Amino acid sequence: MERSILITGGAGFIGSHVVRLFVTKYPQYRIVNLDKLTYAGNLENLKDIETLPNYEFVKADICDYARMLQIFTDYRVDGVIHLAAESHVDRSITDPFSFAQTNVMGTLSLLQAAKESWKGNMEGKLFYHVSTDEVYGSLENEGFFYESTPYDPQSPYSASKASSDHFVRAYGNTFKLPFVITNCSNNYGPNQFPEKLIPLFINNIKNNKPLPVYGKGENVRDWLYVVDHARAIDTVFHGGKNGETYNIGGFNEWKNIDLIRVVCRVMDEKLGRPAGTSEQLIAYVTDRAGHDLRYAIDAHKIMNELGWQPSLQFEEGISKTVDWYLENQQWLERVTSGDYQKYYNKMYGGI
Ligand code: NAD
Ligand code: TYD
Repeated sequence: MERSILITGGAGFIGSHVVRLFVTKYPQYRIVNLDKLTYAGNLENLKDIETLPNYEFVKADICDYARMLQIFTDYRVDGVIHLAAESHVDRSITDPFSFAQTNVMGTLSLLQAAKESWKGNMEGKLFYHVSTDEVYGSLENEGFFYESTPYDPQSPYSASKASSDHFVRAYGNTFKLPFVITNCSNNYGPNQFPEKLIPLFINNIKNNKPLPVYGKGENVRDWLYVVDHARAIDTVFHGGKNGETYNIGGFNEWKNIDLIRVVCRVMDEKLGRPAGTSEQLIAYVTDRAGHDLRYAIDAHKIMNELGWQPSLQFEEGISKTVDWYLENQQWLERVTSGDYQKYYNKMYGGI
């Protein structure tokens, strides 16, 4: 094999799309998917590629340093794409410790394993850290996040991601570990766990359940189709410069309530319900604590320097996403059984 790449969090939402892209596009690479399989990890996401000869799955916790060291040795890892994380802001408000543990300590454990395994020969090695635009904080109605924007995380989730980004840069500076970091905006698409806005609302509309809109629905997010994020990761993994940061986004800002109306309209069309049916499910609920008002990414650097750009228009992306959820009822039923009910009642039991 030409390369041996460890992808962490590959059973999760974005990770599964990255694994699929790399396994199918690069048969000459060995792709090792390392995942703890938390509530958010699901090997069903990779059923279509799991028998390919260049794919292997390892169930492990990134916080287990001894195990990470062993895996680097056993698989002769020369590249890491690190996506494993606790990823949901609402959960970080109720359980911040697990975010510090996985996102900070877990990243540190992987960095140390990479540094120890690669010491004396950093040539051709790369630690690719996948981060979020949320580390930059919250914008008012104007302006964008640039790669040079100072970090100003506002939630326990974004604080833990910011901390992990700092550790990656510190290893680059102190130990000369070759690295790149990307900070991406909100992703949507197939296989996203239905705790995040779009799949939660698709699932609730289908089941005629209320749509819990936080506050007045005026917060703004920049949305990118997940396959375009995976393509960007491929682009940066192969063309990014050592030590650089690249912002990734769709130049596709939506106020939550406007986006929700689009999802409602598309769902009415696909389910053959009269126009306006789904919007009646909208229920304004208490705002998220410390809710960031607006995220907006300036993605010119990756576009100009590496030639990446989003391939899908939002309407098309939403339509594909809704189709996927409607065609994959079993997936939804399986991930929403068990613990999901407890989570849902704790978060939204009042409506
Ligand atoms: P996700 O929650 O769907 O998946 C996370 C995966 O990590 C799961 O498969 C889970 O089992 C695994 N995992 C969690 N803890 C682990 C541990 N201790 N050891 C090994 N595996 C563990 O998350 P996602 O939405 O796919 O996000 C992936 C990455 O991309 C995260 O680092 C996140 O911060 C970042 N990101 C996400 C978005 C987004 O919109 N979802 C946007 C920008 C960046
Ligand atoms: P989310 O998908 O959790 O992503 P993030 O908080 O990381 O941006 O939420 C997207 C937006 O939707 C955010 O402004 C919070 C809002 N939201 C709701 O209004 N209701 C919900 O039930 C959820 C999960 C999110």
